[in-house]
Amino acid sequence: MPSTSSSAPLGIVTLPQHILEAQRKHPTATGEFTWVLSGITLACKIIESQVRRAGLVDILGSANQVNVQGEEVQKLDLLANEAIRQSLGYRGNVGIVASEEDDEPTVLQKTRPGTKYIVLFDPLDGSSNIDVNVSIGTIFSILEQREDVPETDGPLPQILQPGINQVAAGYVVYGSSTVLTYTTGFGVHLFTLNPEVGAFVLSRENIRLPESGNIYSTNEAYKHDYPESYQAYLDWVKTKEAGKRSLRYIGSLVADFHRTLLKGGVFLYPPTIEQPGGKLRLMYEANPLAFIAEQAGGMASDGNQRMMEKQPTALHERTPLIIGSKNEVEKVLSFVQ
Ligand code: AHG
Ligand code: MN
Ligand code: MN
Repeated sequence: MPSTSSSAPLGIVTLPQHILEAQRKHPTATGEFTWVLSGITLACKIIESQVRRAGLVDILGSANQVNVQGEEVQKLDLLANEAIRQSLGYRGNVGIVASEEDDEPTVLQKTRPGTKYIVLFDPLDGSSNIDVNVSIGTIFSILEQREDVPETDGPLPQILQPGINQVAAGYVVYGSSTVLTYTTGFGVHLFTLNPEVGAFVLSRENIRLPESGNIYSTNEAYKHDYPESYQAYLDWVKTKEAGKRSLRYIGSLVADFHRTLLKGGVFLYPPTIEQPGGKLRLMYEANPLAFIAEQAGGMASDGNQRMMEKQPTALHERTPLIIGSKNEVEKVLSFVQ
């Protein structure tokens, strides 16, 4: 049972209560931070209700559009994108939102200083799994607007900050249950949606990512497209010397990461011939998950450097990703660096 806070009867701690608790610890956050996170969780509840009914209403399948990523957009991608934009649009203190599904960022509020936050998100991660009822998710990253950048330069210089500047990050997995994991820099905490009351309830606090783990997660079909050094790691991991290993690959980053966070191991999406810069996106996939991994005692790298120290140069910039147990990430890096 999670530790009960004095104000919560029956030991139930909801997400707003937990965030307020985090407010008191976070040096710069003010009450408005709670307001932003509650906007995101509202959107995730809307998405969850649609995901659960996807087979019943006509929101499965393709929207017959291609997004800025050059990928076919699913109807649920657009619905999720709209749910988050709408929920944040009325939060007042969110100045800029940027989504995987939108070519450009959206400036919601021009005036400062009220508009303190920037929210980046992957509204629906694992889109290829929507129609086959496999876990999918939503990923978000929260930055603060930089006072040193004139607004006349537009939103991009505000957004292109390294992952170490994130004030919060999290994800939701719409799986056998709907779970939300987040950090504000004070540990990683897991909430489970209680559908009866529509509230995210604390189920695990201060999660630690196991230092080692025997699960490795990558799309082995691409092995021969990976750089030789990654192929060498994938050969080694199957040897007796590597010990008993298991391969798990769901194809939804957020689900593969959630398993890694709880059970340990390593997820890797290396550079490929087709995508030498990697497939996954730095700002709203790799960085938020890297923040969570590090806060739980794990590691995240692009194969050359700590993920959260990368200086982004473009909103939809892609990156190779190696993330998970400290010892397992270091083992991969011993081959690729
Ligand atoms: P998205 O659905 O947001 O585009 O993300 C899909 C990503 C990620 O979820 C997953 O790890 C990866 O694509 C799977 O890629 P492959 O199908 O190439 O393995
Ligand atoms: Mn994604
Ligand atoms: Mn997506």
